[in-house]
Amino acid sequence: MTQKTLLLTGASRGIGHATVKVFQAAGWRVLTVSRTAFDARCPWHAGSTDHFVGDLADASARADLVARVRDCLGAEGLHAIVNNAGISPKGEGGARLGVADSSDEVWSQVLGVNLLGPAALMRDLLPELERAKGSVVNVGSIVGKRVHPFAGVAYACSKAALEALTREAAGELGPRGVRVNMVTPGEIETEILSPGTEKMTDVIPLRRLGKPDEVARVVLFLCSEQASYVNGASVDVNGGQHV
Ligand SMILES: NC(=O)c1ccc[n+]([C@@H]2O[C@H](COP(=O)([O-])OP(=O)(O)OC[C@H]3O[C@@H](n4cnc5c(N)ncnc54)[C@H](OP(=O)(O)O)[C@@H]3O)[C@@H](O)[C@H]2O)c1
Repeated sequence: MTQKTLLLTGASRGIGHATVKVFQAAGWRVLTVSRTAFDARCPWHAGSTDHFVGDLADASARADLVARVRDCLGAEGLHAIVNNAGISPKGEGGARLGVADSSDEVWSQVLGVNLLGPAALMRDLLPELERAKGSVVNVGSIVGKRVHPFAGVAYACSKAALEALTREAAGELGPRGVRVNMVTPGEIETEILSPGTEKMTDVIPLRRLGKPDEVARVVLFLCSEQASYVNGASVDVNGGQHV
């Protein structure tokens, strides 16, 4: 059986790191990208050669990444892209960046990484996805649908727009054999969380934060044959926080 290949953004820690492990355990080859170099403290098979260092907000870094991904794919193409890399900038002392506090620079940084990056990768690697009848999973957030005590306005808008991008792409690429879905995590224990998040467990029916691999397993499902008729879906992974 051909080994499937995934391009995963933001693999250096958090949900991305857990996603590498889950896909590798399922037999996938995982091509990774983040701004940080491959960390030898957490090695995985072919991790160092399959890792690309680059800033997804930078168009030339994205072009290099796309060229490199193309070079290392076989005739069968690319089976999945997981657009996981994301940033959620904070103000001084970790303050929430609301409408009144978000500079043009913050807006363009956040939209560059969280929205333009995923859109550009889907566009530029579409022929490779089509060849493999592959799929895309965008990592959104509960914040795309509701005001959050810590996440800022630019981040929230980027995730709401990512949901629209997922819907648009599912409608447009479905007829071309490519499925596009989304996961929307709630409060997952990673470095992106603000201090004080643990107090939010009072409003989460499961009364705990989520673990990165609990998101990664849903991502794997959406990329697998088991989800062959799932397209344009957004799956909440939040312990019931949205109810
Ligand atoms: N944790 C949560 O509770 C939660 C909740 C809802 C949604 N999410 C979403 O889940 C995704 C992963 O979040 P996380 O919690 O795992 O965050 P994290 O621990 O901060 O990891 C973010 C990842 O994105 C990479 N990254 C950031 N900016 C990048 C850039 N410009 N170019 C390339 N890579 C970049 C980071 O690597 P480098 O720093 O090395 O570049 C890192 O690997 C994000 O999209 C986030 O919005 C998380």
